[in-house]
Amino acid sequence: MPHEIRVPEAKDESLIKIRPYESRDFTEYVHTLERTTEWGNKAEQELRARMEKMTSEEEIWVAETDNRPVGFMILSPNQDGTLEIDWLDVNPDFQRRGIATILVRKAERIAKTKKYRALSVRTYIENTNMITFLRRNGFEVFERIRNFYGERKDALLFKKLVV
Ligand SMILES: CC(C)(COP(=O)(O)OP(=O)(O)OC[C@H]1O[C@@H](n2cnc3c(N)ncnc32)[C@H](O)[C@@H]1OP(=O)(O)O)[C@@H](O)C(=O)NCCC(=O)NCCS
Repeated sequence: MPHEIRVPEAKDESLIKIRPYESRDFTEYVHTLERTTEWGNKAEQELRARMEKMTSEEEIWVAETDNRPVGFMILSPNQDGTLEIDWLDVNPDFQRRGIATILVRKAERIAKTKKYRALSVRTYIENTNMITFLRRNGFEVFERIRNFYGERKDALLFKKLVV
Protein backbone atom coordinates (compact mmCIF):
# COMPACT_ATOMS: atom_id res chain seq x y z
CA MET A 1 0.00 0.00 0.00
CA PRO A 2 1.49 3.36 -0.92
CA HIS A 3 1.69 5.91 1.85
CA GLU A 4 -0.78 8.70 1.63
CA ILE A 5 1.04 11.90 0.79
CA ARG A 6 -0.51 15.09 2.01
CA VAL A 7 0.03 17.85 -0.50
CA PRO A 8 -0.40 21.30 1.04
CA GLU A 9 -3.20 23.18 -0.66
CA ALA A 10 -2.02 26.37 -2.27
CA LYS A 11 -2.98 29.41 -0.18
CA ASP A 12 -4.04 27.34 2.80
CA GLU A 13 -3.01 29.79 5.48
CA SER A 14 -3.46 27.23 8.22
CA LEU A 15 -0.32 25.48 7.00
CA ILE A 16 1.73 28.64 7.25
CA LYS A 17 2.92 29.82 10.63
CA ILE A 18 4.30 33.30 11.22
CA ARG A 19 6.78 33.66 14.09
CA PRO A 20 9.75 35.81 15.13
CA TYR A 21 13.14 34.94 13.64
CA GLU A 22 15.40 32.60 15.57
CA SER A 23 19.11 31.95 15.00
CA ARG A 24 18.30 28.45 13.63
CA ASP A 25 16.63 30.17 10.64
CA PHE A 26 19.88 31.72 9.42
CA THR A 27 20.84 29.01 6.90
CA GLU A 28 17.43 28.92 5.20
CA TYR A 29 17.36 32.72 5.17
CA VAL A 30 20.71 32.73 3.35
CA HIS A 31 19.51 30.05 0.90
CA THR A 32 16.45 32.13 0.11
CA LEU A 33 18.47 35.33 -0.40
CA GLU A 34 20.89 33.48 -2.66
CA ARG A 35 17.94 32.84 -4.98
CA THR A 36 15.90 36.01 -4.59
CA THR A 37 18.70 38.60 -4.81
CA GLU A 38 21.69 39.20 -7.04
CA TRP A 39 24.12 38.56 -4.19
CA GLY A 40 24.75 34.89 -4.96
CA ASN A 41 27.36 33.52 -2.59
CA LYS A 42 27.66 36.95 -0.94
CA ALA A 43 24.16 36.57 0.54
CA GLU A 44 25.50 35.25 3.84
CA GLN A 45 27.84 38.20 4.18
CA GLU A 46 25.04 40.65 3.34
CA LEU A 47 22.67 39.08 5.85
CA ARG A 48 25.31 39.12 8.60
CA ALA A 49 26.03 42.78 7.88
CA ARG A 50 22.31 43.63 7.98
CA MET A 51 21.89 41.80 11.25
CA GLU A 52 24.88 43.51 12.83
CA LYS A 53 23.29 46.89 12.25
CA MET A 54 19.84 45.86 13.47
CA THR A 55 18.49 48.19 16.13
CA SER A 56 16.43 47.13 19.13
CA GLU A 57 13.33 48.52 17.38
CA GLU A 58 13.72 46.29 14.33
CA GLU A 59 12.25 42.80 14.07
CA ILE A 60 12.64 39.87 11.70
CA TRP A 61 9.58 37.71 11.04
CA VAL A 62 9.55 34.27 9.49
CA ALA A 63 6.88 32.31 7.61
CA GLU A 64 7.22 28.61 8.24
CA THR A 65 5.59 25.68 6.49
CA ASP A 66 6.17 22.07 7.55
CA ASN A 67 8.72 23.38 10.07
CA ARG A 68 10.72 24.98 7.29
CA PRO A 69 11.35 28.74 7.24
CA VAL A 70 10.48 29.86 3.71
CA GLY A 71 9.53 33.54 3.95
CA PHE A 72 11.17 36.46 5.69
CA MET A 73 10.67 40.16 6.36
CA ILE A 74 12.44 42.80 8.41
CA LEU A 75 10.26 45.45 10.05
CA SER A 76 12.03 48.71 10.57
CA PRO A 77 10.75 52.05 11.90
CA ASN A 78 11.19 54.64 9.16
CA GLN A 79 12.08 58.28 9.81
CA ASP A 80 8.87 59.36 8.06
CA GLY A 81 6.81 57.79 10.84
CA THR A 82 5.86 54.65 8.92
CA LEU A 83 6.79 51.06 9.67
CA GLU A 84 8.90 49.87 6.76
CA ILE A 85 8.84 46.32 5.41
CA ASP A 86 12.40 45.69 4.38
CA TRP A 87 13.84 42.54 2.77
CA LEU A 88 10.56 40.78 1.99
CA ASP A 89 11.75 37.51 0.48
CA VAL A 90 10.01 34.21 -0.17
CA ASN A 91 11.90 31.07 -1.19
CA PRO A 92 11.14 30.65 -4.95
CA ASP A 93 9.93 27.07 -4.38
CA PHE A 94 7.18 28.49 -2.16
CA GLN A 95 6.14 31.61 -4.05
CA ARG A 96 2.58 32.28 -5.29
CA ARG A 97 1.08 30.51 -2.28
CA GLY A 98 0.13 33.66 -0.41
CA ILE A 99 3.12 33.63 1.95
CA ALA A 100 4.19 37.24 1.37
CA THR A 101 0.54 38.30 1.66
CA ILE A 102 0.36 36.67 5.09
CA LEU A 103 3.63 38.34 6.15
CA VAL A 104 2.28 41.74 5.06
CA ARG A 105 -0.92 41.13 7.01
CA LYS A 106 1.23 40.40 10.06
CA ALA A 107 3.12 43.66 9.46
CA GLU A 108 -0.21 45.50 9.32
CA ARG A 109 -1.30 44.06 12.65
CA ILE A 110 2.03 44.96 14.25
CA ALA A 111 1.88 48.48 12.81
CA LYS A 112 -1.63 48.94 14.18
CA THR A 113 -0.65 47.71 17.64
CA LYS A 114 2.38 50.00 17.66
CA LYS A 115 0.25 52.93 16.48
CA TYR A 116 1.96 53.56 13.14
CA ARG A 117 -0.20 55.40 10.62
CA ALA A 118 1.18 53.56 7.58
CA LEU A 119 3.36 50.78 6.26
CA SER A 120 6.05 51.58 3.70
CA VAL A 121 8.13 49.54 1.26
CA ARG A 122 10.92 50.60 -1.07
CA THR A 123 11.56 48.50 -4.12
CA TYR A 124 13.56 48.66 -7.32
CA ILE A 125 11.54 50.32 -10.07
CA GLU A 126 12.05 47.31 -12.36
CA ASN A 127 10.99 44.72 -9.79
CA THR A 128 7.69 44.10 -11.54
CA ASN A 129 6.82 41.04 -9.44
CA MET A 130 7.14 43.00 -6.23
CA ILE A 131 5.29 46.00 -7.69
CA THR A 132 2.40 43.78 -8.80
CA PHE A 133 2.41 42.13 -5.39
CA LEU A 134 2.33 45.50 -3.57
CA ARG A 135 -0.51 46.92 -5.68
CA ARG A 136 -2.46 43.72 -5.20
CA ASN A 137 -2.03 44.19 -1.45
CA GLY A 138 -3.32 47.76 -1.42
CA PHE A 139 -0.03 49.69 -1.50
CA GLU A 140 0.22 52.85 -3.59
CA VAL A 141 3.24 54.64 -5.01
CA PHE A 142 4.14 57.59 -2.84
CA GLU A 143 7.43 58.72 -4.33
CA ARG A 144 10.17 57.86 -6.83
CA ILE A 145 13.62 57.93 -5.21
CA ARG A 146 16.33 58.60 -7.79
CA ASN A 147 19.51 56.50 -7.76
CA PHE A 148 18.48 54.72 -4.56
CA TYR A 149 20.12 51.43 -5.55
CA GLY A 150 23.00 53.01 -7.49
CA GLU A 151 23.35 55.17 -10.58
CA ARG A 152 20.09 55.20 -12.58
CA LYS A 153 18.66 52.53 -10.30
CA ASP A 154 15.62 54.27 -8.91
CA ALA A 155 13.37 52.98 -6.16
CA LEU A 156 9.65 53.39 -5.73
CA LEU A 157 8.44 54.14 -2.24
CA PHE A 158 5.06 52.51 -1.64
CA LYS A 159 2.78 53.20 1.30
CA LYS A 160 -0.37 51.71 2.74
CA LEU A 161 -2.42 53.35 5.44
CA VAL A 162 -2.97 51.30 8.56
CA VAL A 163 -6.66 51.08 9.34
C1 LIG B 1 7.52 39.54 -4.39
C2 LIG B 1 7.44 38.31 -3.47
C3 LIG B 1 7.86 38.70 -2.05
C4 LIG B 1 5.99 37.77 -3.47
O1 LIG B 1 5.91 36.65 -2.60
P1 LIG B 1 4.78 35.53 -2.74
O2 LIG B 1 4.70 34.80 -1.45
O3 LIG B 1 5.00 34.73 -3.97
O4 LIG B 1 3.48 36.44 -2.97
P2 LIG B 1 1.92 36.01 -2.81
O5 LIG B 1 1.78 34.57 -3.16
O6 LIG B 1 1.44 36.45 -1.49
O7 LIG B 1 1.28 36.90 -4.00
C5 LIG B 1 0.06 37.59 -3.89
C6 LIG B 1 -0.28 38.23 -5.23
O8 LIG B 1 0.76 39.14 -5.62
C7 LIG B 1 0.96 39.05 -7.05
N1 LIG B 1 2.25 38.43 -7.36
C8 LIG B 1 3.12 37.86 -6.51
N2 LIG B 1 4.20 37.39 -7.17
C9 LIG B 1 4.01 37.67 -8.46
C10 LIG B 1 4.76 37.43 -9.65
N3 LIG B 1 5.94 36.79 -9.62
N4 LIG B 1 4.27 37.87 -10.83
C11 LIG B 1 3.08 38.51 -10.90
N5 LIG B 1 2.30 38.75 -9.80
C12 LIG B 1 2.77 38.35 -8.61
C13 LIG B 1 -0.16 38.15 -7.57
O9 LIG B 1 -1.28 38.99 -7.80
C14 LIG B 1 -0.39 37.25 -6.37
O10 LIG B 1 -1.67 36.66 -6.37
P3 LIG B 1 -1.97 35.35 -7.28
O11 LIG B 1 -0.86 34.36 -6.99
O12 LIG B 1 -3.32 34.91 -6.81
O13 LIG B 1 -1.95 35.80 -8.71
C15 LIG B 1 8.36 37.16 -4.02
O14 LIG B 1 8.15 37.02 -5.41
C16 LIG B 1 9.83 37.35 -3.78
O15 LIG B 1 10.38 36.94 -2.75
N6 LIG B 1 10.52 37.97 -4.75
C17 LIG B 1 11.96 38.09 -4.72
C18 LIG B 1 12.46 39.01 -3.66
C19 LIG B 1 12.02 40.45 -3.85
O16 LIG B 1 12.08 40.98 -4.93
N7 LIG B 1 11.62 41.05 -2.74
C20 LIG B 1 11.27 42.43 -2.69
C21 LIG B 1 12.47 43.25 -2.34
S1 LIG B 1 11.96 44.94 -2.05
